[in-house]
Amino acid sequence: MCKTNRYTITAALPYANGPLHIGHMAGVYVPSDIFARYLRRKGKDVAFIGGSDEHGIPITIRAKNEGVTPQDIVDRYHENIKSTLENFGVTFDIYSRTTSVKHKEVAQDFFKTLYENGKFTEDVTEQYYDEEAKEFLADRYIRGECPKCQNPDAYGDQCEKCGSTLSPEELVNPRSALSGNTPIRKETKNWYLPLDQYQDFLKEWIIDGHKNDWKSNVYGQVKSWLDDGLKPRAMTRDLNWGIPVPVEGAEGKVMYVWFDAPIGYISFTQEWAEKNGKDWKDYWQNEDTKLVHFIGKDNIVFHCIIFPTMMKAHGDYIMPDNVPANEFLNLEDDKISTSRNWAVWAHEYLQDFPGQADTLRYVLAANMPENKDNNFTWKDFQTKNNSELVGILGNFINRVMVLSHKYYEGIVPAKTVEFEEVAQIKGFATRIGEHIEKYEFRAALTEYMNLARLGNQFLQAQEPWKKGDNPEEVKGIMNAATQIAVALGQLAEPFLPFASEKILNMMKVDKIDWNTLESTNEFVAEGHQLGASELIFAKIEDDAVEAQINKLQESKTKNNMTNPNAEPQKELISFDDFQKMDIRIGTILEAKKVEKADKLFELKVDTGMDVRTIVSGIAEHFTLEEVVGKQAMVLANLAPRKIRGIESHGMLLFADKEDGKLTFVNPEAETPNGVQVG
Ligand code: MF3
Ligand code: ZN
Repeated sequence: MCKTNRYTITAALPYANGPLHIGHMAGVYVPSDIFARYLRRKGKDVAFIGGSDEHGIPITIRAKNEGVTPQDIVDRYHENIKSTLENFGVTFDIYSRTTSVKHKEVAQDFFKTLYENGKFTEDVTEQYYDEEAKEFLADRYIRGECPKCQNPDAYGDQCEKCGSTLSPEELVNPRSALSGNTPIRKETKNWYLPLDQYQDFLKEWIIDGHKNDWKSNVYGQVKSWLDDGLKPRAMTRDLNWGIPVPVEGAEGKVMYVWFDAPIGYISFTQEWAEKNGKDWKDYWQNEDTKLVHFIGKDNIVFHCIIFPTMMKAHGDYIMPDNVPANEFLNLEDDKISTSRNWAVWAHEYLQDFPGQADTLRYVLAANMPENKDNNFTWKDFQTKNNSELVGILGNFINRVMVLSHKYYEGIVPAKTVEFEEVAQIKGFATRIGEHIEKYEFRAALTEYMNLARLGNQFLQAQEPWKKGDNPEEVKGIMNAATQIAVALGQLAEPFLPFASEKILNMMKVDKIDWNTLESTNEFVAEGHQLGASELIFAKIEDDAVEAQINKLQESKTKNNMTNPNAEPQKELISFDDFQKMDIRIGTILEAKKVEKADKLFELKVDTGMDVRTIVSGIAEHFTLEEVVGKQAMVLANLAPRKIRGIESHGMLLFADKEDGKLTFVNPEAETPNGVQVG
């Protein structure tokens, strides 16, 4: 058994640029909360640390798109995320944010320590720079043609069309997403963490030291990074959203978001310690403390290589004891995607299923992507709720409550018979705990549900309702069943905290610590008065699940439309408005260029009613030869306008394609000029 008494548990800081979805919950917040709750019940000294990651490019991009400041964005989502986590019963000791004053101070201190001790290397490199915006361009702010698939809109770090990882220098015809201009190359100095110098340390610590206790998915990823050989990595950026780099010559530069964010774990611990009369150093600088990082697999390199290297370079910090990263959760067999709105948003779930946070916690724990990607489906959600939570756990507790009230007015009867099943309970407590300590949350939950199954089987086998002629035996059976029911209420807490509280309240039993659960045979005493029976879990009906599936189907329909980028519809007009327009088929008879106007052609058009002059802005789309002889739709009764001194009598109609090119909208077969369109 582990003797460590102090744990620092961190959960990846979510970016405050959008709400949480079930992937975040299953990957990070459900497992870390199960772990923290269990260890507290085990009597350990736990600091469970969380908060919002409020720097980084995705936040500035979102702000720009919405025309608000990055601070507006993070204020909005920090509150949203914080309350969602609370509503799911995630028991952080502190949930703070990386834009706090304290965090800035701690992160700058950390940076300075590394700087002053000569832990950084410096390098001057050429980066893309937007002369109009006067900014260096983050990879995401550089667009251009993908060298692999010719997609004209690839990003500086990746092409979303073919999926390749790119660097900005690889883009053909790069342009700035800020101004659209071609960026120039400009020299800039940055500070690097020489990861290569820590290669041996990392190898010894992880590859040699944690082969057997770290998850194979985590171990494997770290090994492949180390096998490839580590390179220095820039810890500063030329951006204006982030924590200013506190050294001379770094004016206008901020810390790389992956430098400042994990320091958040430390600064938030300090904030918490100050408020609670603790010494934060116990949680970060004491070799007896176990530091555990809960993350998703996309965070492995940052938590197993970069942050440990930062802490090692600093010198005062302990290394994580474990980094139990999860793989990804899919939704209805498809990758969760924010941009495609293919997600179950945690806060929306609580609106749609009020009071049923535990059900989602349960289903996510049961399907946790511990060793490989896993899948969430609404049908499975319904089945797990209805046949497991309602059908097994809720059903057993309800039967015990109802029978107790029926036979004994809710007073726990004497233990007139010894049952093996009661003696087995403590073994369940031990096994659940062992699985949790090994980060095997699914197995822990299975073990827990096996105790509920055991309870049902026990009642089914003993059939107290058929033993009216032997009241002493019935007492013994009911005492035993009540022991199991109370134990289920106690042991539920890490997984199903709301149900646990409800069960214990209903039974009028106090919480007891886990060590006692592992060693006792008496969870409730003879003569104890149980409260009134209440239902613990509600059935989820078909229509509730269908509504969720329909909601997802809407996203799918939208995503499958041929052109999701189509312009939104204009304001409504009346039928009369439409009737006023005189649109006809005409033929272009002659075309010539308009002097000193690159975009314009002067056309002679046969409208059936007359031959008239129309000036049209199509010179960049067609050659003169291409348009002569073509039929087109003509808006004939548009009031005449002078364009570059030429009077234009109407307008030709073209389709404006997504790539900005125009195309003719012709009648299928040659049609007499003057025929009306409408
Ligand atoms: N915001 C990051 C993500 O969502 C996680 C940051 S974890 C920290 O992937 F360690 F950097 F804080
Ligand atoms: Zn591509």
